Amino acid sequence: MYSEKVMDHFQNPRNVGEIENASGVGTVGNAKCGDIMRMYLDIDDDGIIQDCKFKTFGCGAAVATSSMATELVKGKTIQQALEVTNKAVMEALDGLPPIKVHCSLLAEEAIHAALWDYAEKHGIKIEGLEKPKSDISEGEEDEEY
Ligand code: FES
Repeated sequence: MYSEKVMDHFQNPRNVGEIENASGVGTVGNAKCGDIMRMYLDIDDDGIIQDCKFKTFGCGAAVATSSMATELVKGKTIQQALEVTNKAVMEALDGLPPIKVHCSLLAEEAIHAALWDYAEKHGIKIEGLEKPKSDISEGEEDEEY
């Protein structure tokens, strides 16, 4: 059911932990399944993401997608990090079962939330970034979980 990459990132998640004095921290959850993800970004003066760590209280797919998402944003610019969508994360993991697609949305939103926090702290606006929801299930159609 899960690709080898998903199993690998679930069993050996990369970049687990916290960053002290992070440039941006974002926490998002999904009230329907109860999963929560927190993403920490360390962004240098040139706007390059030097480090990224995460903590996820959630299902295996949420752990795997957050792990892959941290790998994808590391070393990137803020604009490039915005391109790390849930689709990009899923592709990098060789796919997720349809019922687990929402888990990858948590990763995308957590990156956005951390970037939003960074922008607020620096009094800047990041083009193309909208205020993230803290609960990604908000306004969603009722789905089976
Ligand atoms: Fe909710 Fe995976 S994030 S079940």
